Amino acid sequence: MHSSFVSLTLLGSALAARPFLNEPDTGFDEFFSSLAPGELPPLDQLVGLPDFDAAARRHMSTQNYTYYRNGAAGEWSYRNNLEVFNRYVLKPKTMVDVTNIESTLPTTILGHNFSAPFFISPCARGGYGNVDGEKGLVEGAAAGDILYMPAIYASLTIEDIATYKTDDQVTFQQVYLDGNDTATQLIFDRIQKSNSKAIVFTIDSAADGNRHRAARYGVGSADSSYTLITWDLYDHLRTMTDLPIILKGIQTVEDAQAAVEHGVPAIYLSNHGGRQIDGARSAFEVAIEIHQKAPEVFSQLEVYADGGVRYGADVVKMLALGVKAVGLGRPFMYANVYGTEGVTRAIEMLKHEVAIDAANAGIADLHKIDTSVVS
Ligand SMILES: Cc1cc2nc3c(=O)[nH]c(=O)nc-3n(C[C@H](O)[C@H](O)[C@H](O)COP(=O)(O)O)c2cc1C
Ligand SMILES: *[C@@H]1O[C@H](CO)[C@@H](O)[C@H](O)[C@H]1NC(C)=O
Ligand SMILES: *[C@@H]1O[C@H](CO)[C@@H](O)[C@H](O)[C@H]1NC(C)=O
Ligand SMILES: *[C@@H]1O[C@H](CO)[C@@H](O)[C@H](O)[C@H]1NC(C)=O
Repeated sequence: MHSSFVSLTLLGSALAARPFLNEPDTGFDEFFSSLAPGELPPLDQLVGLPDFDAAARRHMSTQNYTYYRNGAAGEWSYRNNLEVFNRYVLKPKTMVDVTNIESTLPTTILGHNFSAPFFISPCARGGYGNVDGEKGLVEGAAAGDILYMPAIYASLTIEDIATYKTDDQVTFQQVYLDGNDTATQLIFDRIQKSNSKAIVFTIDSAADGNRHRAARYGVGSADSSYTLITWDLYDHLRTMTDLPIILKGIQTVEDAQAAVEHGVPAIYLSNHGGRQIDGARSAFEVAIEIHQKAPEVFSQLEVYADGGVRYGADVVKMLALGVKAVGLGRPFMYANVYGTEGVTRAIEMLKHEVAIDAANAGIADLHKIDTSVVS
C-alpha cells in the first residue's frame, strides 16, 4: 500500500493562526438565547454532536463539567485532537453510485455485530452528568445497536451496569490494573460473570495526568498512582482470563508492532482525550504514522481509535486509514445529560452524518474505503 499522505497542507497553517473554538460557531448561542440560565435546550432542536457540549455546559455545575471537559496542562493535545481533522482534507469523488451507503454502516468489532463503525469510549463518573449514572449510555448503546465500553471507574458498578443491558447486548469492560494479582483476578472474574465480551486494558496512564483545569475544582484523575505496566504483565494477564484483552492507549507504530508480536487481538489508539500528557499526538496522527510505516498492522489485528471525533467526516477520515471502529468519549458523556434519549439521538445523528459525508465523498461502501479520499 502506498501512502497518499503529505504532512501539513496550506489549509492547516492558515487554521493554526486562528483562535481555538471549543465548538465552531454554528449559531447555537443566538438560537437558544431565550433559554433560562442552566435550562437544557430541547433535545430535538440539537443539530450535531458539538451541541451536546454547549448544552451540557449550560446545565452541569462548573465543577462537574470541568471533569468532563478538561485536558492535560495547557490542553494543546485536547485542542489538537479536535483540530487535526481540519489539517487533512477530503477529496470527494464524483459520478459514483453511493445510494446504498447506509447499508454498509454495520460492522464487526472482535467478531460481534454492530450497526455502525463507532462506539462509546470508556469514561469514568457518568454520575457527574446524570443522576442515573451510566444507565443512559448502556441503554442508548443498546437502542442504537453500537458498542459501549464501560469504565472501571464508572459511577455504577460492573454489576449494576449489567442489569441495564439487554439480553444479547455486547459490552467490553475497561480496566486499570495495579499489578496485584489477587485484585486483578477478582476484577476479571466479575467482568466474566457480568457477561462482558472483552477487557479493555488502559495502558496510557502509568502516572497521574497533569490536569490544571481539573485541579482548580478538585476533579482530577480517577487513577492516581504510578503503575507497573509492561509487556511481561500483559503476557501474564492473558493467562488469567479467557476474554480477549485489548490495549487502549497505544501511541506509536513501534508499540503497535509490539502488540502484533505479543498476539494482542486489538489495539486502541488514543491519547486519552488529551487528558494524560500534553503534547501527545492525536490517534489520527498515530494512525497516519502506522499507515505510512507499517500498514500491514491494520490487517494483523483490529485497530480502534478515539480523540476529538465530532463529525461524520472525522469518522470517515479515520476509517480511510484502516481504523476498524472509532470511539467517542465526551460527546456521549454530554449527551447522557439527557439520559437514554440523548445518547440514542447522538448515535442517530452520527450514523446519519457518517453516511451522508461518506456519500458526498464518493464512497460507495464503507468497507472498501481507502486513503485515496483523504490527504
Ligand atoms: C470524563 C472522561 C473520563 C474518562 N475516563 C476514562 C477512563 O476511566 N478510562 C479510560 O481508559 N479512558 C477514559 N477517558 C478517555 C476516553 O476513553 C477517550 O479516550 C477520550 O474521551 C476520547 O476523546 P474525546 O472525548 O475527544 O472523544 C475519559 C475521558 C473523559 C472525557
Ligand atoms: C452477524 O452478522 C452476520 C452477517 O449478517 C450473520 O451471519 C451472523 O449470524 C451475525 N452474528 C450474530 C451473533 O448475530
Ligand atoms: C455533580 O456530580 C455529583 C457527583 O456525581 C452529583 O451528586 C451532583 O448532582 C452533580 N451536580 C449537578 C449539578 O449535576
Ligand atoms: C491485593 O488485593 C487483595 C484483594 O483486593 C487485597 O486483599 C490485598 O491486600 C492486596 N495486596 C496488596 C499487597 O496490596
